[in-house]
Amino acid sequence: MNRNRHLVALGAASIALAAACQFEPTIVELHYSLNEEAIQSNNLLADDKNAQEHLSGALEFLFGTATNPSYVVLPDWRDEEFDPNNWGYYLLSDEEFDALKESNAWTYRVQIAAIEAGDLDAVEEPRYAGDLWARFQSLVADAPDDLDEPFDEDDPEWSYRDELIAVFESYYPNQRTTADLYRQQCFHCHGAEGGGNGSTADFLNPRPRDYRPGTFKFTALKDKAKPRHADLVRILKEGIYTTAMPSFRRFSDAQLNALADYVRLLAIRGETEILMIADFDPDEGMVPELLQENYELVVDRWRAASDSMIEYDGDVPRYDDHDAAERITRGEELYLSEKAANCVKCHGLEGRGDGESVKNNPDDATDDWGDPIKPRDLTRGVFRFGRRPIDIYRRIYAGINGTPMPEHFGMQIIDPETAETRNMTEDDIWDLVFFVRSLSDEKPVVHTETEEHGEASH
Ligand code: HEC
Ligand code: HEC
Repeated sequence: MNRNRHLVALGAASIALAAACQFEPTIVELHYSLNEEAIQSNNLLADDKNAQEHLSGALEFLFGTATNPSYVVLPDWRDEEFDPNNWGYYLLSDEEFDALKESNAWTYRVQIAAIEAGDLDAVEEPRYAGDLWARFQSLVADAPDDLDEPFDEDDPEWSYRDELIAVFESYYPNQRTTADLYRQQCFHCHGAEGGGNGSTADFLNPRPRDYRPGTFKFTALKDKAKPRHADLVRILKEGIYTTAMPSFRRFSDAQLNALADYVRLLAIRGETEILMIADFDPDEGMVPELLQENYELVVDRWRAASDSMIEYDGDVPRYDDHDAAERITRGEELYLSEKAANCVKCHGLEGRGDGESVKNNPDDATDDWGDPIKPRDLTRGVFRFGRRPIDIYRRIYAGINGTPMPEHFGMQIIDPETAETRNMTEDDIWDLVFFVRSLSDEKPVVHTETEEHGEASH
């Protein structure tokens, strides 16, 4: 335990310590490091090693360690029955839970078949699921010879065999196991604390996401809201087309949900850290009340994510609608007009991502992480957030967080046809979607089943 940790814990009387410190050796033991760049931005903290140790201790108190991550649960959250340590699990609807069970049944089909056959010795240890295996082993230790005996005397219908199968089917990894999966699958790109600075990162363009500022590009949300759980899971399933970010579809739904939980923990940790660094005052030290305030503020933003969903109530226009050609023409006018959407300034006259402002305005050529970025070449038909009409709609509506690509809904424009000043509407955005799609397709494409399901048909 960090020796400064008790200082914070003593002061923060209203914070209940949820995580016990248990250590178990792993192959490479990961440690969270402090956000060096953010620390350098506050001279007072940069010169104060002691205060930096306090900060490490405070963060460890709130979020645990890289091998045993865990949130401190605030008393208010208890009253509201909100437990961040089981965040994604409680967000699952009944339908999603059924899908998760189905996915587990497939992932662990070999194990489940062996249990069904009553041959417990033949059940193989699954990979990346230490907690599942431990639970199974403890049940096996008590298993009767006849697996058809009831598991619980009060419920004669539920046999020991049913229970053993349910352990696999209802599996949702704990945070420790997920941190280990992250170490094996994500760490080399995203880094231990999600700083986007793993050993492979320098070779990649775009760079792996630095989660710590809490900015995520690909959400279905407006107002720069934090991603929903579903947005993160989607990224893990699909990967990000034409970047190094792979698809992790080979893992079960439960594992992907738990990884999304872990990305969220790292982001919340990183954002809390950045706030504490900005607020640091050497006369006050690390103030526990401020720590709790910042922590709660960041978590609340994440809890509010779904409030910012971009919903479209009307019928989503289809590329085979009779007015598709008119939409393309109107979309082109909006795209080209300097006083309307002015996409041309970045994406260029032909959509090749070579607009003037990229050459003249450094802000339009740099992302929030300080890396160079180019407007997309729209003639190549690369849509990293998905190519369904609603996906492209959401991108144009809300822009891409952390990049120069702006939010367009509500933007003040001069209507290219009537020359009147007005705000950009949902319908304008659909027109732009149609035009953008026409840049990479010879003709408006007929809406297909695969697109409906968001399976990028690259
Ligand atoms: C080979 C390198 C690599 C690996 C391995 C990798 N990523 Fe990524 N990841 C990237 C890159 C590159 C991006 C940024 C893409 C972009 O900016 O469009 C990214 C972006 C992301 C994002 C941000 C999406 C958004 O909306 O901004 C999340 C979340 C993410 N990765 C999670 C993970 C998780 C979890 C794992 C492990 C299961 C993982 N990544 C493994 C390279 C990687
Ligand atoms: C200030 C510059 C700028 C303006 C203005 C701009 N964009 Fe972009 N756009 C970008 C950048 C940069 C990216 C690439 C972001 C990335 O790679 O993460 C991008 C990406 C895109 C994408 C790809 C989305 C995806 O899912 O991958 C589309 C589509 C797009 N822009 C359409 C438009 C349209 C339509 C307009 C006008 C309504 C517009 N952009 C205005 C800079 C701009």
